[in-house]
Amino acid sequence: MNHGKIIPMSKRLIIGNWKMNPGTPEEAKKLVRKTKRAALGLVKTEIVVCPPFPFLTACVPRKKEANFKVGAQSVSAEEGVGARTGEVSATMVRAIGAEYAIVGHSEQRKVGESGNSDTDETVSKRLNAALNAGLVVILCVGEKARDENGTYLEELKNQIKNSLLNTPKKFASKIIIAYEPVWAIGAQEAMNSEQIYETSIFVRKIFADVFGADNGLKAKVLYGGAVNFRNAYEIMTVGKVDGLLVGRESVNAPGFVELIKAVDKITA
Ligand code: 13P
Repeated sequence: MNHGKIIPMSKRLIIGNWKMNPGTPEEAKKLVRKTKRAALGLVKTEIVVCPPFPFLTACVPRKKEANFKVGAQSVSAEEGVGARTGEVSATMVRAIGAEYAIVGHSEQRKVGESGNSDTDETVSKRLNAALNAGLVVILCVGEKARDENGTYLEELKNQIKNSLLNTPKKFASKIIIAYEPVWAIGAQEAMNSEQIYETSIFVRKIFADVFGADNGLKAKVLYGGAVNFRNAYEIMTVGKVDGLLVGRESVNAPGFVELIKAVDKITA
C-alpha cells in the first residue's frame, strides 16, 4: 500500500545558454544574482544557467541554492586531464561544482564558424565524457531546415541515434534532449507550438527506441529557438515540452525573470 505517499512531480526546466555573453565578470555576477533571486520562490520550475567557461566558477553557488544550478556550454571529448590545448574537461567542470553540460549545440556543429565543427561522433564522445564525470547532459538536436516530405525527421533521428550510440542505458535519466530547430535559433519567431508538440513526440519516440519505452516516457524534452517571456507560456502549454533552452532572453535579466515567472505559473 502506498497511502499518503507523495510522488514528487518532475520540475520544469529552464536553461539559460548565455553563449559568448556577457563581456565582463561583473556583468556575469550581476546577471546570475538576478536569475538566482528569481529562482528562489519557484514552486514547479528549476533554473540552470550556462555561462562561458571564465565565469563558470563565479556563477556556481557557494552553498546549495533553491531551484538554481549551473552548467557548461560544452566539454572536451577527453576526460580528466592531459595534453589538450584549449580544452576544458567535464571532470574539471564537475570539480568546480557545475552540474550540467550542453553538448551538440548547432553553433558548435557549424563547420568553421566557432572554430569547432562537431559531428555526431564528437558529440557522442563529449556526451559520454560528461556523463562519466557525473554531469547531467543537455543534448541539442535540430534540423537545419524543414521540408515537405519529412526528410528533416530522418536528420533528427540520425542525430539522436548517433549521439547516443555508445551510451549505456543506465545513463538514460541523466540525458535531457533539447530540440532546437537550427532555423529558429536567433530568429525573430519561435517555431509554432503545435509543430513543437508534434516534433517533441517524435524526439521522445526516438529516445524510446534507443533506451526503451519506459525511459522514453520519462525523458525530458526541451524546446529552444527564439524563446522569450512573451511566447514561453504558449510553448510550454501548447507545445507540451518539459522545459526551454533559452539564448538571448537568458542574458536579458528583466525578460528572463518574466519568462521564469510565466512558466512557474502554469497550472497542472
Ligand atoms: P535564441 O533563444 O537566442 O534564439 O537561442 C536559442 C539557443 O540557441 C539556445 O541554445
